[in-house]
Amino acid sequence: MTAAAGGNPLVEGLERLPVGPTTLTIFGATGDLARRKLLPALYNLAHDGALPERFNLIGVSRGDESHDAYRAMAREAICRFSRRRPDPKVLDALLENVRYVAGTFGEAETYARLGELLAEFDEVDGVPLNRAFYLSTSPAFFPVIVEQLGAHGLARHDHAEVRVIIEKPFGTNGREARELNRRVLSVFEEPQVFRIDHYLGKETVQNVMAFRFANGLFEPIWNRNYIDRVEITAAEDVGIGTRAGYYDAAGALRDLVQNHLLQLLCLLCMEPPVRFQADEVRDEKVKVLRAITPPAPEHTVRARYTAGTEGGEDVPGYLEEEGVPPDSQTETYAALRLEVDNWRWNGVPFYLRTGKRLARKVTEIAITLKPVPHLAFEQAGSVGVQPNQLVYTVQPNEGVSLSLGAKIPGTRMAIRPVQMEFLYGTAFMSQSPEAYERLITDAMRGDATLFTRNDEVEAQWRVIDPILDAWAAGEPPLDTYEAGSQGPDTASRIMDPGDRWRAI
Ligand code: BG6
Repeated sequence: MTAAAGGNPLVEGLERLPVGPTTLTIFGATGDLARRKLLPALYNLAHDGALPERFNLIGVSRGDESHDAYRAMAREAICRFSRRRPDPKVLDALLENVRYVAGTFGEAETYARLGELLAEFDEVDGVPLNRAFYLSTSPAFFPVIVEQLGAHGLARHDHAEVRVIIEKPFGTNGREARELNRRVLSVFEEPQVFRIDHYLGKETVQNVMAFRFANGLFEPIWNRNYIDRVEITAAEDVGIGTRAGYYDAAGALRDLVQNHLLQLLCLLCMEPPVRFQADEVRDEKVKVLRAITPPAPEHTVRARYTAGTEGGEDVPGYLEEEGVPPDSQTETYAALRLEVDNWRWNGVPFYLRTGKRLARKVTEIAITLKPVPHLAFEQAGSVGVQPNQLVYTVQPNEGVSLSLGAKIPGTRMAIRPVQMEFLYGTAFMSQSPEAYERLITDAMRGDATLFTRNDEVEAQWRVIDPILDAWAAGEPPLDTYEAGSQGPDTASRIMDPGDRWRAI
């Protein structure tokens, strides 16, 4: 039994599958992602007993640190960002097997030292350990690191597995993604490559598949005959923080729609895979992406926030954020109307939206069913009948709710919507693991089901590239919205008559 389970029968079966002995190398080991997400995820895996018995970590970064200084930095990051208060014994044991390599990513010397450390760990353990290389650097270094690993004979290891985990963004357009795939696949085989989309590691995202394919209730209505429309929202209340350098070049479409929102759409729309296995699942997702016609410019909205109020505080507009060029045309809000042109979904609108500095943080998928064909209660004065809505809340308050029409107690046949709710926290009495915990484990285990395959990432860009081209040509114009609001007033112009966005 794991420490997390703590004797709770409701979490039985939540334990993770075993992972082979591994040395994990993080490139960009002192960066923001490593400190906030990767190191805390490793700690929590250690806490749950989910790391392999033999597990070592090597940090590679430009900073000239000693092993001890890096361990101290890792300790500080874990204490600050872990979802659990660290247990000193678990933390000490984890840090014991941490090493550091200082060096630039293009330099042969860095890889020579890395190779020595990897070999030392193998020697200590007396067996060749699996190796996982996590590329958590600026994207410009992805091909550099991969090629250096290849050149130094680190892409293969006799009697053990070698895997490479690549962070986002995977290119900034289709052409770059294809080129990056070409370079990565000239060194590694596709089954060795794990392209991260951290949304796939979120519990409620995986639950979309569980709800669809483990229940007889939903699948019969999961098509154009019963579903009227789908809204996928990833709203954030935060601004861009200190990430102007990255964000101003990316924008909301590349940052969240190209990857996370299209992944949610795929899981929602795909045909049932034969097995829950990497290629079966990904084959089905690729088919969905290929069925999407890139939207015309009038079916897209782009906007950026102006100054406003967030949580009672005055906040600056995007153009006033530190590091944003005054003539920036970058969107902090994007909305699209997409259609999946296949037998199951033809004609159903899929509305996707995301934005920074919106009213609150919420990620949800709302599926609205068609209205009942005839309402026999109308004469009795019932006006409150709404079509059923199934809402997956990915975050916060992970759960699923279904709205139903119910009779209001009394002598009249008056109907109003009520909610049937499943809340993850209440049902399982446990805190969900962070997405990175699941994804790091899966990568170390060699299970690529929750990672993006090469053709999939290219199919995502096929949808996004024409939008980027239209936006670069000024179509549609960039709108504005006040920080802390629901987004631009124009956002509903892409919707069919009668449709409205849900309140954020
Ligand atoms: C990242 C984006 O991929 O996802 C960020 O680069 C965004 O801009 C983040 O804030 C949102 O992730 P989450 O897990 O907080 O919804």
